[in-house]
Amino acid sequence: MKILDLEFKPYIDRSEILLQVRKISESINRDYKDKDPLFLSILNGSFIFAADLMREINIPSQISFIKLSSYSQVASTGKVKKLIGLNEIVFNRNLIIIEDIIDSGLTLQHVRAALEDLGSASVEIATLFLKPESFHKGFDIKYVGFSIPNNFIVGYGLDYEGYGRNLPDVYINK
Ligand code: IMP
Ligand code: MG
Repeated sequence: MKILDLEFKPYIDRSEILLQVRKISESINRDYKDKDPLFLSILNGSFIFAADLMREINIPSQISFIKLSSYSQVASTGKVKKLIGLNEIVFNRNLIIIEDIIDSGLTLQHVRAALEDLGSASVEIATLFLKPESFHKGFDIKYVGFSIPNNFIVGYGLDYEGYGRNLPDVYINK
């Protein structure tokens, strides 16, 4: 399958993804019972993961959406823009950041720092995908769906140049 100039092959199908999403939600339901967590979904990439995850969360909780992007084409630009859309009071809240994929971890490092500055009680991260070969930021990622190689992937919310977010399954460029 081709998106713009890149060739992609089927990689992980939706049923496998949903199994991992369910595992993550079970852990969160257990770990955050009575903690009234506020989920913060990082747009755009995590919108589908967030929607599937939240339908499996059965404890009192809230969700909000924030935006912050450092990505240009297939390589991180190293530049981080500011965090927008945070209207909830995060002071003293137990926060769970929902991310689609962590590559260098730069995006997350910035978001975590901003949220800690606002006096949150705790900040943990739930990511569907992690690229361990490029992540060297030294903070813990509590909930990970899949550890994957450094190849570029699309589908299930993840895009290449804005395309491919609608694909129900995940495809890989190699
Ligand atoms: P980081 O700041 O280097 O960790 O980059 C994280 C962001 O880059 C993610 O939120 C995605 O938007 C994007 N990204 C990283 N790897 C991929 C990929 O393989 N496919 C699609 N987007 C990616
Ligand atoms: Mg993203």
